[in-house]
Amino acid sequence: MDLLKRAEKALEFHFERAAGLGAPPRLVEAMRHAVFSGGARVRPQLVLSVAMACGEDAPELTDAAACAVELMHCASLVHDDMPAFDNADIRRGRPSVHKAFGEPLALLAGDALIVMAYQVLLNAGKSDPERLVALMHALSAGVGLPSGIVAGQAWECEVKADLGQYQRAKTGALFVAATCSGALCCASDAGPWATLGASLGEAYQVADDIRDVMGQAILLGKPSGQDVLHARPSAASELGLDGAMAHFQSLIELAIASIPECSYRELLQQLVRREAERLVPSAAFAEFKRQSMLAPQSMSA
Ligand code: IPE
Ligand code: IPE
Ligand code: MG
Ligand code: MG
Repeated sequence: MDLLKRAEKALEFHFERAAGLGAPPRLVEAMRHAVFSGGARVRPQLVLSVAMACGEDAPELTDAAACAVELMHCASLVHDDMPAFDNADIRRGRPSVHKAFGEPLALLAGDALIVMAYQVLLNAGKSDPERLVALMHALSAGVGLPSGIVAGQAWECEVKADLGQYQRAKTGALFVAATCSGALCCASDAGPWATLGASLGEAYQVADDIRDVMGQAILLGKPSGQDVLHARPSAASELGLDGAMAHFQSLIELAIASIPECSYRELLQQLVRREAERLVPSAAFAEFKRQSMLAPQSMSA
């Protein structure tokens, strides 16, 4: 089974099991809207592929760890789109959760998804407390303080934020949780996998900043021009579009070089390269730059 299918199937299973019966139906509907809406599932696929590279020996726990990471990601998107943050009406090409269900249910759906991530881990990891505790630590570090998603989002409320610190926290940290979880669910050492998560995660946010500027030139499924609109620290505005692209490419090379020696090394390297091209297609980038040179004012990033 390919990794995307495996991740989707595991999410369906674990979502239903953790939601149980008798919960308020509109809340469950809002949570489903947040999770089952065509996300790229990059983070859970990373958990699965690192686990395979580490000689996966507990596939049910691996599936649960992959789901927990994706549920946290979905929760962060629900809250990120709300009017208190980015006030975005569209996510994954559909109305964002607060647009479809209202703010109270969006807030609760985000909260409930965060708790569900831990429920899913607990349900699958009860029989192996040592692995379970390690996975819960990794996930908490990716989401909480001092440098997980919540800390990253909170840098937006400070007078000054360091771009790299902001991006590593709001996006990189959950990628670190993903690669480390892949190792931890097979009781492998997570250390050698942390750099892959950190550099790919930071690259991911730099790419998101580039895509935010390129807007209509690539299919986003969410509003573009948001970073300038909300005066967010962004790789494109701090480094210029070419500088951001060079930074992106060097992070991708770092990610590729960091993949530990194992029988999956080449496959993982190919996956990272393919993902980099999906994020910022070179032809679309070149065409965007060509157009921008014809109309220099649109180049302002
Ligand atoms: C969007 O993440 C938010 C960022 C951290 C850049 P993804 O680009 O992985 O979004 P989905 O899950 O595919 O919608
Ligand atoms: C990343 O930041 C999102 C989270 C950490 C939740 P952005 O605000 O740049 O992501 P998008 O562009 O809304 O997906
Ligand atoms: Mg944001
Ligand atoms: Mg946003």
